[in-house]
Amino acid sequence: MADKVKPDWTGNDLLSRFVNLMIQTKPIYRLMTHQARQVIINTAEKNGISWQGNCQTLEKSPAKSLLGQIMNPDIVYPDYYLVPFHAYDEGNLCWKAAFEAVPATQSLGLRVWKNEDLTWQEAQKRLRASFHQVLEPYSPPEVKDVLDIGCSVGVSTKALHRYYSQRQNNPINTIGLDLSPYMLAVAKVTDEQQEISQWVHGLAEKTDFADNSFDVITIQFVLHELPRHAATAIFKEALRLLRPGGVLGIVDNNPRSEVIQNLPPALFMLMKSTEPHSDDYYTFNVEEALTRLGFEYQTTVPSDHRHRTIVATKPV
Ligand SMILES: C[S@@+](CC[C@H](N)C(=O)[O-])C[C@H]1O[C@@H](n2cnc3c(N)ncnc32)[C@H](O)[C@@H]1O
Repeated sequence: MADKVKPDWTGNDLLSRFVNLMIQTKPIYRLMTHQARQVIINTAEKNGISWQGNCQTLEKSPAKSLLGQIMNPDIVYPDYYLVPFHAYDEGNLCWKAAFEAVPATQSLGLRVWKNEDLTWQEAQKRLRASFHQVLEPYSPPEVKDVLDIGCSVGVSTKALHRYYSQRQNNPINTIGLDLSPYMLAVAKVTDEQQEISQWVHGLAEKTDFADNSFDVITIQFVLHELPRHAATAIFKEALRLLRPGGVLGIVDNNPRSEVIQNLPPALFMLMKSTEPHSDDYYTFNVEEALTRLGFEYQTTVPSDHRHRTIVATKPV
């Protein structure tokens, strides 16, 4: 891990401000986001993930017909969410983003171990296992209720559910929560064995769950999509929802990762052009925020050479 706390291409550094200026230039932004998409699609296709095939299967699935049933009409989307993400003008609020999230999530592990000859399934398994392994020593011995915040199309949720289910005999009640009803519709149709109890359309900052209702809450690859005020509000809500002794696990890009700090300019330009809240994320002291809110901060572990896992518990 590097001594530097964050990459120079984030925050208020000169390089970061220069990159932001380039991104704010419309034709350059368009070019960047187009390129960023191509990098992700090429990684997937090169590793046997059919981008088009996945999207066509979902197009023919009942996903679209589930939207009305999943959508909570009382939701008011915050401004930070209503901006382009991942090269989609409508951010996470469209079918294209939701359908393409399946092959994009499948590829997630491939960029981590790109020098190893892993299948995407092996890389995905390793990515999730490296997170569960860090959570394990802080998890309550008996886990009944699990919440995955920002579950997207449900890949993190199913892996989490299976991890805690194989660890003990009693059944686990797992819920996936997301602000995009499109992502949730895809999560629901791809939950073929109906392992997950509920897919909930909700704002993580203000949920309808009762106090002290979960033993484990996770926030996986969500923080980098949030401004810090939203992340802080979500931590506060997680503290309310956890039972005393319950555990919060967060995994995301590691600002101290040498790989991330030394990304070639083309790649960090691409990354920043598709992730509008990057500067806020990379300069946010998550551990300090958790402690200030009343969590017992436990550990931060570089769970692989690009990501870090942060664990905090609710005081007993
Ligand atoms: C990159 S995806 C998460 C990926 C997923 N957890 C995984 O590991 O495969 C981020 C998700 O966070 C959701 N999200 C962002 N802000 C949110 C909020 N305030 N409340 C609930 N979900 C939110 C987005 O809709 C998106 O689906």
